[in-house]
Amino acid sequence: MQVIESIEEMQTVAMQLRFGGHLIGLVPTMGNLHDGHISLIKQAKEKSDKVIVTIFVNPKQFGPSEDFAEYPRTWKEDLKKCEDNGVDIIFHPSAEAMFPKDFSTYLNEETVSEVMCGISRPSHFKGVTTVCLKLFNLVRPDFSFFGQKDAQQCAVIKKIVRDLNIPTEIKIGETIREPDGLALSSRNQYLTKLQREDALSISKALTKAKDLVDSGIKSTDRIIAEIIHMLSQKRRIRIIYVQVVDRETMQAAKTVLQNQTIACVAVWVDDVRLIDNIVF
Ligand code: PAF
Repeated sequence: MQVIESIEEMQTVAMQLRFGGHLIGLVPTMGNLHDGHISLIKQAKEKSDKVIVTIFVNPKQFGPSEDFAEYPRTWKEDLKKCEDNGVDIIFHPSAEAMFPKDFSTYLNEETVSEVMCGISRPSHFKGVTTVCLKLFNLVRPDFSFFGQKDAQQCAVIKKIVRDLNIPTEIKIGETIREPDGLALSSRNQYLTKLQREDALSISKALTKAKDLVDSGIKSTDRIIAEIIHMLSQKRRIRIIYVQVVDRETMQAAKTVLQNQTIACVAVWVDDVRLIDNIVF
């Protein structure tokens, strides 16, 4: 496994792989790899013959009062996980290399990213789309892999790829959960035992919502009310949003359409921000 830090080297190596006829799979991450990332790496290995994992805690997607400084950085463990799972290249650039002092060009998606997390984290998606476009340009992957846990991020990335004809195919991997239902996230490790207990109500509320849909309820108002009711029982939880939306456009849905409508939740568990969603 090769570790590349320089942008120029990444571009050269990726070009050589392409000219050598290899199919390239890209798994963009911010490190602190968990089983959700590993499942994306496994999918990338199935679809492509060279897998590049990027590990870069992107400063541009954190707001001024967010957890950029505290975000878990676990380089040694990540390296081992990549090696154990057959990753070919880790791209691990510095922040200065990716965003030099005079950096001034951003990519702004203007509809899908304007709702939900786009309201509570105003510059977040601009940071995500800008860094992803840079990674797509540097690596030119045939396939790029993202996790469904970040449903809005998936929709925004798909939209920029479509709008700007970026030559990569976006693949979405299912949300990986703990046995008790908590969706895997690097931010779970911020939770105390008691906070984690309350956080379980997120997946429980989403599962209840799916049960309602399966039992024939299609009114999204009814589903939202049930999710809010369940989350409100927990003392440590403050709801940021509960929405039922179209999974491509992220616009509010009135009724549930099979495989097209998703319920999305963002909450504070005390000072820990968690998101989750379920596809109906
Ligand atoms: O999902 C993430 O970890 C990040 O938002 C991403 C896609 C790696 C961009 O920094």
